[in-house]
Amino acid sequence: MALLSILQYPDPKLHTLARPVAAVDARIRSLIQDMLETMYDANGIGLAATQVNVHERLVVIDVSEERNEPLVLINPDIVWASEERVVNDEGCLSVPGIYDGVERSTQVKVSALDGEGVVRTIEAEGLLAVCIQHEMDHLKGKVFVEYLSPLKRNRIKSKMLKTRRALGKSDEA
Ligand code: NI
Repeated sequence: MALLSILQYPDPKLHTLARPVAAVDARIRSLIQDMLETMYDANGIGLAATQVNVHERLVVIDVSEERNEPLVLINPDIVWASEERVVNDEGCLSVPGIYDGVERSTQVKVSALDGEGVVRTIEAEGLLAVCIQHEMDHLKGKVFVEYLSPLKRNRIKSKMLKTRRALGKSDEA
């Protein structure tokens, strides 16, 4: 297992469209383990392969309190989404320190392969439903800040770039 580095917004690679996973083989199983380790290490509740610069349709999620209920979704497809929508504050490991409201369906039904390559249908609501929609956006190259107003998005972009420059400077010191 290994910790993977997480792309930081506004890295243009975050806007790459992921292609389907062709086979759930040893390479994918190893990627799943690394992504879970990376997500838990960063205290995240979800991580998409896009965020670790692998552009294949794979996400890992764990919204449990105990951090012991990993969910693996390979080639996920939303087969139903409720018309009822609600705004929740979201954050993202690729946009650390930023939280803002995004409107999502309150319930979704998703079909995906699990970590063993078996087809599963998951009915989700609450935080899990939000997380699934957020992670699946990553696979489409979409980061949650793109739902915000251009003004807010530009402020976040300059804040992220400033932080990165500051970190770069301290590395040199
Ligand atoms: Ni995210």
